[in-house]
Parts: sequence; C-alpha cells; structure tokens
Amino acid sequence: MKFSSFLLCSVASLASASAIAIDSDYIPVGASITYPRSTSVFPRVPWGHKKPKKDNWGNAVEKDRKKFTIRASKNDRDDISDDFLWALKKANHGGLVELKKGKKYVIGKKLDLTFLKNVYVKLDGELKFTNDIEYWQANNFYYDFQKSITFWVWGGKDVKIYGKGVLNGNGQAWWDGFSGAEILDPNNKYYRPILFLTDNATNIEVSGLHLKDSPCWTTFFVRTKNVVFDDVYIDAVSTNVSSLPKNTDGFDSLNVDGLTVTNTRVNVGDDCFSPKPNTTNIFVKNLWCNGTHGVSMGSIGQYPGVKDYISNAWIENVTLLNGQNGARLKAWAGPDAGYGYIDNITYKDIHIENTDNPVVLDQCYFNVNETTCAAYPSKVNITNVNFLNIYGTSSGLEGKVVADLTCSPGATCNNIHLENINITSPAGSPPQIVCSNIQGDIGVDCIPPSEAED
Ligand SMILES: *[C@@H]1O[C@H](CO)[C@@H](O)[C@H](O)[C@H]1NC(C)=O
Ligand SMILES: *[C@@H]1O[C@H](CO)[C@@H](O)[C@H](O)[C@H]1NC(C)=O
Ligand SMILES: *[C@@H]1O[C@H](CO)[C@@H](O)[C@H](O)[C@H]1NC(C)=O
Ligand SMILES: *[C@@H]1O[C@H](CO)[C@@H](O)[C@H](O)[C@H]1NC(C)=O
Ligand SMILES: *[C@@H]1O[C@H](CO)[C@@H](O)[C@H](O)[C@H]1NC(C)=O
Ligand SMILES: *[C@@H]1O[C@H](CO)[C@@H](O)[C@H](O)[C@H]1NC(C)=O
Ligand SMILES: *[C@@H]1O[C@H](CO)[C@@H](O)[C@H](O)[C@H]1NC(C)=O
Ligand SMILES: *[C@@H]1O[C@H](CO)[C@@H](O)[C@H](O)[C@H]1NC(C)=O
Ligand SMILES: *[C@@H]1O[C@H](CO)[C@@H](O)[C@H](O)[C@H]1NC(C)=O
Repeated sequence: MKFSSFLLCSVASLASASAIAIDSDYIPVGASITYPRSTSVFPRVPWGHKKPKKDNWGNAVEKDRKKFTIRASKNDRDDISDDFLWALKKANHGGLVELKKGKKYVIGKKLDLTFLKNVYVKLDGELKFTNDIEYWQANNFYYDFQKSITFWVWGGKDVKIYGKGVLNGNGQAWWDGFSGAEILDPNNKYYRPILFLTDNATNIEVSGLHLKDSPCWTTFFVRTKNVVFDDVYIDAVSTNVSSLPKNTDGFDSLNVDGLTVTNTRVNVGDDCFSPKPNTTNIFVKNLWCNGTHGVSMGSIGQYPGVKDYISNAWIENVTLLNGQNGARLKAWAGPDAGYGYIDNITYKDIHIENTDNPVVLDQCYFNVNETTCAAYPSKVNITNVNFLNIYGTSSGLEGKVVADLTCSPGATCNNIHLENINITSPAGSPPQIVCSNIQGDIGVDCIPPSEAED
C-alpha cells in the first residue's frame, strides 16, 4: 500500500513539474520576469542572521518576491487583459505583478480572479476599463443583491493591491447612458459594473490607490473575511452637468466579517461607507466624505423573508461635508421587507458640515411611503448604538432638526445613546433632536416628530 501511494505521488509531481516547465516557456510580448536576489542566492537563512521580514499574513515582503511586468496599452482600446491574467497566474503563490508608473493598462474583457493565493499587485500606473457598454452589459459577473454586475471578481486568500496608481472605471459614458434611470426600479435593465468586487476572499488589502469614476458602486465585498482599505482616495466626478454619477458608493458589503477603512477620502454623490446585510466587525477611522449620502449602517431588511444583520461597528474621526446625511442607520419597511437587527454601533468624533440630515435613524427607507411604513413597519431591531461627540452644522434643509431618530413601531429600538451633540442649524436655534419609539432614555432632550420645526 505504502509503495503504490508513493508511486502515485511521484507520478503526480512529475506531471505537474513538466506542466510548469512548458507553461513557463510562454512569455507574452513585452512582459518580463525579475527574480528576487535574496531567495535565489541564499535560499536559507544562515545561523545568527535575522529572519527574512514577513508581511502581516506571514508571507514574503515585496523585495523577496518574483516580479512580473507586462506591456502597457497603446491606447484606450488596446486590451491587455490576457497579459494581466497571465501575470497574475504566474505571480500567484508568492509573486508580484507590477504595473508601472506613467503607463496605462486597459482591461476590455471580464476577468475571473478567484484563484488567487498570496499575491501582490503593485499598481503605480493606471488600470483602466474600456467603456464598451454593449460588451460589458453582455459579459460580466452578476449578483442578485440589488442586481449588481462587475467587470471582474477578486477572490482567494492574501491579496494585496497597492501603489500610487489609479483604478479607473471610466464611468462617464455609463452615467450618461443611465441618466434619468433608477437602480432600485424593478424595470431597470441598464446595469452598470462595480469597479472593485471581492467574492469568497480572505485577507484583502488595498492601499495608496485612487479609485476613480466607477460606473456604479466603487467597491463591493461579498462573502469576504478581513478587508482592509488604507490611504485610498475614491471619487466620481462627471464632466456632464446633465448626467451626474449615480450610486457610486464608496464602500458596500454583503456577508462580510472584518471590514476596515482608514485614512481614506471619498468624494462621490452617494453613500460614503455603507455596509449592507450581514456585515460584522467594522472599523473606520480617519475617513473624509464630501458630497455624500453619509456613513450608514445598511440599508438592510430589503428582501422578503430574509434575515439581515450588522453588528460591532466602530466609526471614529469622520468628517462629512456637503452631503445628504451624516451618521445614519437605515432599514426597509413595507409588505415585502425582511427582518433582522443592527447592534453595537459606535459613532465617535464625527464632524459634520452643511449636511441635510446630520444624524438619522431611518426605518422607512427609500421610496416606500409613510402610510405603507405605518401599515408594514420595519422588523429590524436597533440596539446598543452610541453617537458620541458629533458636532458641526446642518444645511438647514430640515429646519431646526439636526438629528432624527424615528424607530419602527414594529421592532425593538433600545439602548440608543447620544452624548456631546453640538450641531447647529442655519434655520434657527435651538437645534432640535427628534425621536420616536425608542425604549428608555437617549441621553439628550428629544421631541416627538409632531413638534419638529422642519
Ligand atoms: C471559496 O474558496 C475556497 C478556496 O479558497 C474554495 O474551496 C471554495 O469552493 C470556494 N467557495 C465557493 C462557494 O466558491
Ligand atoms: C450628457 O448627458 C446627457 C444625458 O445622458 C446626454 O444626452 C448628452 O449627450 C451628454 N453630453 C455629452 C457631451 O456627452
Ligand atoms: C482625523 O482624520 C483626519 C482626516 O480626515 C486627519 O487629518 C486627522 O489627523 C485625524 N485626527 C486624528 C486625531 O487622528
Ligand atoms: C466637495 O463637494 C462639492 C460639491 O458637493 C464640490 O463643489 C467641492 O469641490 C468638493 N470639495 C472637494 C475638496 O473635493
Ligand atoms: C444573512 O445571513 C442569514 C443567516 O444568518 C441568511 O439567512 C441571509 O440570507 C443572509 N442575508 C443575505 C442578504 O445574504
Ligand atoms: C461591540 O463592538 C466592539 C467593536 O466596535 C467590540 O470590541 C465589542 O466586543 C462589541 N461588543 C459586544 C458585546 O459584542
Ligand atoms: C427583535 O426584538 C424582538 C423583541 O425583543 C425579538 O422578539 C425578536 O426576535 C428580535 N428580532 C431579531 C431579528 O433579532
Ligand atoms: C403609498 O404607497 C402605496 C403602495 O405603493 C400606494 O398604494 C398608496 O397610494 C401610497 N399612498 C400615498 C399617500 O402616497
Ligand atoms: C458648539 O459649537 C459651537 C460652534 O462650533 C461652539 O461655539 C460652541 O462652543 C459649542 N458648544 C459646546 C457646548 O461645545
């Protein structure tokens, strides 16, 4: 028995060794491979020397990795996606793909990148998608959740994408085409791709990049564990006044455990940071949002019969300027809504300026009207929420109201705590805090919705 399994084993390794040998003969035009000096000359660490440095996941650091480069694109239609896929396959298991400064790399084909394991992508140049709407609407990866599509799916384990470069969604043509449509309209068929999506992934780190002009959501993490974004800039800016970017959210998630965003700036016309169903262990620090729909928990509870939750979020030192909302919790009501809970959320040191609704708890989200919400109230419980040291100004759009916490009569809302709230309204003083259906004391004076001067 031992003998035969040994034989099988050696045959298998022979076969794979020869497969690798043949495979490695192929190098696309303009590509190159650089070997790290340290590992090829001194494979072992001599006695008394320091151990080689490892990254956060225990893998080799940049200088110890085999590097793969590919040719750059000559123009915006010169698709290098085959070369990029080649490089990622070669660099998988310990290598690095380098996209150089000053070069543009155009992706014109959908890419399944779910096979990754311990790979770095150093993006100092620009990785840009074609805006061939017809192609992408026929070729993409589709997710039922809010009918999302994407150009590519990143998945696997230990993937780091970093550098000073740009990931460009080339969104203008998509926004122009979408103009006047509504993403949540059941009849909408004009789907737009998400710029960066992970699925079934563990340990994803993105740092230093500029994520630019996504056609739809900028990032979406699905079935993923441990995502870290640090020092990232996200924006979506239209050059056409009659078609503004829409639904270009900074951060969205679904079934994610461990979502960290630090030292990041977001300048988009929709949610800045908005984890969606089943996101747990969220950490946000030093986030700047301009012109956004705020830092929200949710929306959740959108789909009938489905249980959703968001728990354990720490949101600290956030600046929110010129937006619709500041710190927000949002859940769906209506005859076709789901249920669930939002639990253990802290917003601390939040600076809000010129914002319509600085602090909001909304359980009658989106276009479901108040009559319907009253008849079919949200079944999402909201518990253990802190708003600590929230200061600045509202836009005055809601009159003197600077915080509105309207809980669902169909759910439990308790241990909601506000402290050190100093938000003024240009519409007059004193500023008003509205609350309803909350169990217990919220820590500040609040008035029922009927007394609000808005
Ligand atoms: C998730 O990835 C793991 C390997 O990382 C794989 O074994 C598993 O089949 C994948 N699951 C799904 C649902 O794709
Ligand atoms: C701007 O967007 C509108 C609405 O989609 C579109 O009709 C128009 O052609 C666009 N303008 C330019 C210059 O692309
Ligand atoms: C808060 O975040 C801003 C960026 O928005 C940063 O400049 C500032 O240093 C941070 N403050 C603290 C105390 O970390
Ligand atoms: C913030 O957004 C407003 C529009 O909402 C824009 O006019 C302004 O230039 C933005 N500021 C920065 C610093 O990006
Ligand atoms: C959230 O998790 C629950 C299981 O706890 C699952 O039934 C539900 O489908 C998930 N929600 C979504 C939107 O995936
Ligand atoms: C609440 O969330 C924080 C993270 O913000 C976490 O450290 C803490 O353990 C959570 N509390 C409970 C009771 O789960
Ligand atoms: C919501 O709270 C009620 C009352 O405390 C409880 O019976 C129900 O199970 C909770 N729902 C969820 C989804 O946790
Ligand atoms: C509220 O929405 C329901 C369902 O769409 C509709 O039947 C009803 O007329 C609406 N009521 C008001 C006051 O708009
Ligand atoms: C509230 O903010 C205003 C304007 O920033 C400031 O003048 C005032 O001292 C603050 N009040 C408290 C109690 O911190």
